[in-house]
Amino acid sequence: MKKTVLVSGGAGFIGSHVTVELAQAGYDVVIADNFSNCDETNYKGVCAILGRQMPLVRMDFCDAAAVEALFAKYPIDAVIHFAAFKAVGESVAEPLMYYRNNLLSFVNILEAARKKGCNVLFSSSATVYGETDQLPVTEASPRQPATSPYGNTKQMCEDILRDSVKAYPGVRGIALRYFNPIGAHPSALIGELPRGVPNNLVPFITQTAVGKRECLSVFGNDYPTPDGTCLRDYIDIVDLAKAHVCAVTRMCEGRMKEDYEIFNVGTGRPLSVLELINAFERVNGVKLNWKFAPRRAGDVVAIWADPTRAEQELGWRAERSIDETVKAAWAWEKKLAGK
Ligand code: UFG
Repeated sequence: MKKTVLVSGGAGFIGSHVTVELAQAGYDVVIADNFSNCDETNYKGVCAILGRQMPLVRMDFCDAAAVEALFAKYPIDAVIHFAAFKAVGESVAEPLMYYRNNLLSFVNILEAARKKGCNVLFSSSATVYGETDQLPVTEASPRQPATSPYGNTKQMCEDILRDSVKAYPGVRGIALRYFNPIGAHPSALIGELPRGVPNNLVPFITQTAVGKRECLSVFGNDYPTPDGTCLRDYIDIVDLAKAHVCAVTRMCEGRMKEDYEIFNVGTGRPLSVLELINAFERVNGVKLNWKFAPRRAGDVVAIWADPTRAEQELGWRAERSIDETVKAAWAWEKKLAGK
């Protein structure tokens, strides 16, 4: 029998790519989103890629009654929770908004999952590791105190999931710790749609290349790294989405070794800011206007994943090259610009 997966925040950047991969792997998917941080572009793109209208529920996961009604309406086997605020700076300015939205929505989902006895996949982040000198990081690397309310909500939701799994029979959970998701679907029908000035590197690069921004600032050139810029583990969005299919399948087929599991989702390959810019310019034949700028507060020097556990347990590994990824990111930006 086909399994049904609820994707909260399914119209967003990661949620839309995950929806496509799940549907293509044979799952029934229900998308739920309140469109507070996105428009319908990605939802329409998902339907275009899959060639059918996907079930869409407009709702806020902070509304407990709406969450309960949703779980009553659909035969949900697993839920993937993306619906959360994600801007680090904003979370520092508006901590209560972050704690209310990110924690309450997750508690409501867990209450519903508890009643139904269903699997829960939480979208966590490498941010939980903070600054570490044990590189690459494994899932056993210690978490560092969060440096922002956003990061704190990721840690707290991991803990809420762990404790719920322990207390409530029938609830199993997986937390996926993403490194730096970038790129777009090769169809250029879905991708990243940041509101306002992008915080993240790749949307800033593509918007500069397309002429929406004048110049990219590279934050810091005196870090203790080979070229002085920060190192990150940039993971292709389609690869990342496929990791969710592997994790959901593991949960739905009862193959989990423990009722709560954590996996890093990264490539295991560190790349500097300058290496990423160079790849973008080379692959796309574009000259990017960039300059060095002071370090950005809160940036860690270097972080990349040890993805061994995901490979061994989920049977997943990153497959797309950085060249394919920056090509897809550029195709998406050009499409948005109508070029
Ligand atoms: N960078 C620039 N210029 C920019 C934007 C970023 O040089 O305009 C650099 C950053 O300094 C960093 C690298 O590019 O060295 C990557 O920065 P991103 O903002 O793209 O990604 P982060 O590693 O800072 O962010 C990640 C996740 C976030 C999470 C954050 C927590 O993408 O969701 O870690 O620290 F919140």
